[in-house]
Amino acid sequence: MKHFLDIKNTSKEDLIKLLNLAQTLKEEVKSGQQRDDLQGKTLGLLFQKPSTRTRVSFEIGMGQLGGRVITLQKDEVGLGKREPVKDVARVLSRYVDIIMIRTFDHTDIEEFSDFASIPVINGLTDFSHPCQAIADFLTILENFKSLDGIKIAYLGDGNNVCRSLVELAQKLGVEIVVSTPDGFELDYDGTYKQVKDPREAIKGADVVYTDTWISMGEEGKSIEIFTPYQVNSELMKLASTRAIFMHCLPAHRGEEVTDEVMESEASKIFDQAENRMHAQKAIIKTLLS
Ligand code: CP
Ligand code: NVA
Repeated sequence: MKHFLDIKNTSKEDLIKLLNLAQTLKEEVKSGQQRDDLQGKTLGLLFQKPSTRTRVSFEIGMGQLGGRVITLQKDEVGLGKREPVKDVARVLSRYVDIIMIRTFDHTDIEEFSDFASIPVINGLTDFSHPCQAIADFLTILENFKSLDGIKIAYLGDGNNVCRSLVELAQKLGVEIVVSTPDGFELDYDGTYKQVKDPREAIKGADVVYTDTWISMGEEGKSIEIFTPYQVNSELMKLASTRAIFMHCLPAHRGEEVTDEVMESEASKIFDQAENRMHAQKAIIKTLLS
């Protein structure tokens, strides 16, 4: 692994190794073990969009590995605006050992990785959110112990989170069904199972997943068409009796999900949020080893 830009261009073998390492690192932290593998190493975090989980989980995670972090916000760097992407890539490569980027256009992160001499991690683009998918599968594994026979139903917008989830499910041979309104399907290079009726999609699912209907940068989008795709208690009754509810957060209660489902026993949203940190520690460690 040179960079971590997408699930699709990461091998199945590497993905399994990441999940295993994330589990080990999580157990270590829980048992109070300290690490200093990355002492003297600096992780750069470059944000062109807001973040809570991504920023904090990367900063704390890098600290737990003994390294340090520099966080650069949108108004500071102006990626591609104040300075061309290829120049920022070569400048930051002289200072930091590894970098995470959250931005809009996926081609910016690809260009950045072409010019950078350090590993680049995708911390979300309009196209994909691969770190989230690793944390999500870590959460699914924790709940079901194995991925055998698991069915995931993703309801709502065919967006960046949906793409990485579908890609990881396909790499690992896990069944995933996506249900979106017309015009909001995942624009996917390949085939995946689509079911228009959300009631049919959720039937028997072990994992029910949704995300915001309005992603960052889509402010002002009309969302009426999404109403039948709201994950509520009535819909959850159609899922498997052991079903868990997942959401990458931030969530919009009363839109893609009800407060009742968010606060239910089935909801694993905060485990997911925590697992971002363990997943990303595995990604950083792997890229720097
Ligand atoms: N899930 C996620 O990426 O959260 P943030 O936008 O808060 O980083
Ligand atoms: N789809 C959402 C995910 C946020 C973590 C967005 O891009 O805003």
